[in-house]
Amino acid sequence: MRMFGKAGKAAAVAAIAALALTACGRTDSGSSSSSTGGGEAFPKDSLIGVALPQKTSENWVLAEKLFNDGLTGAGFKADVQFANGGVSEQQNQISAMVTKGAKVIIVGAIDGAQLGTQLQQAKDSGATVIAYDRLLLNTDNVDYYVAYDNFKVGVLQGQALLDGLKAKKPSGPYNIELFAGSPDDANAKVFFDGAMSVLKPKIDDGTLKVLSGQTSFEQAVTQGWKAENAQRRADTLLTGSYGTASLDGVLSPNDTLARAVLTSVKAAGKPLPVVTGQDSEVESVKSIMAGEQYSTINKDTRKLVEHAITMVKDLQAGKQLEINDKDSYNNGVKTVPAFLLPPQIVTMENVKTAYVDDPVLGPITK
Ligand code: BGC
Repeated sequence: MRMFGKAGKAAAVAAIAALALTACGRTDSGSSSSSTGGGEAFPKDSLIGVALPQKTSENWVLAEKLFNDGLTGAGFKADVQFANGGVSEQQNQISAMVTKGAKVIIVGAIDGAQLGTQLQQAKDSGATVIAYDRLLLNTDNVDYYVAYDNFKVGVLQGQALLDGLKAKKPSGPYNIELFAGSPDDANAKVFFDGAMSVLKPKIDDGTLKVLSGQTSFEQAVTQGWKAENAQRRADTLLTGSYGTASLDGVLSPNDTLARAVLTSVKAAGKPLPVVTGQDSEVESVKSIMAGEQYSTINKDTRKLVEHAITMVKDLQAGKQLEINDKDSYNNGVKTVPAFLLPPQIVTMENVKTAYVDDPVLGPITK
């Protein structure tokens, strides 16, 4: 299944949808600095900017060190910034990277639709822009995208929820609730759509029942990917819709929110539901091993950062970049050439083998 439409829909803004229509048929023009011939495009010791969002999950924290080490190890100067203060801080950081002469700017956006002016500045300065993990929306000024296959992440989560429910009780109906990520993150809707591609037919045929009735993305979102927001919503759902009824399963888009939901259910004194996750955070991997959280997704940050750095090296050397997806990620204005990595589902069944190469999780899961 191609993700063209799904990623387009991630831009849940009417204006973006309108732009997508006008952009129909437009093909990627490629990066001005991605030459196909030989010769260095820029000096080897150039500055590379990396703008990361807030520390909403462990993967971002890991990425900071990996980018710093990997870029400096390759001879570049690295300017890696978090924007814990929010969108305007990230906008200022990207502008500063442009001013400092960064040749490539890698962006993990807080809000992929709010960086238009800064990405235009980057483009005008001749820098190449790579969207990292999260797509940059509604702009022509993004050259490449590197990420795990976000739609596939959602599909794996939806399937894991069904599998976990069946393992607990051979047949339905099962009561479930749906949680989504932050609506300003372009990935959140893609994860949700992937999961719903598996779950919706089962909701429609009555196998799954969402007692709250909250089945739309807008109803399921968790602002800022914040644990407290998910926990509060879970508390409200349990009180409002699960008096004597059991909650059998919860679609959670990541580990931070999965643990928040589990905390809420524990506080309500209810049996633990099957809960999905993502990111292979240490606490969640331990929780899976303890039989609490049902699943997570292995998206090894080291591989993602490594590929982003490979892109930078290829750009520097004036080489053609390796792209494995040319038509899935329409950002509302253009289809962004992407390199997608495959996510892996992890449950109790494969938790001992999934992380053998991981320096942190390997020893924990032995
Ligand atoms: C990332 C997830 C992460 C979430 C919250 C998403 O864009 O793809 O891995 O859980 O942000 O930080």
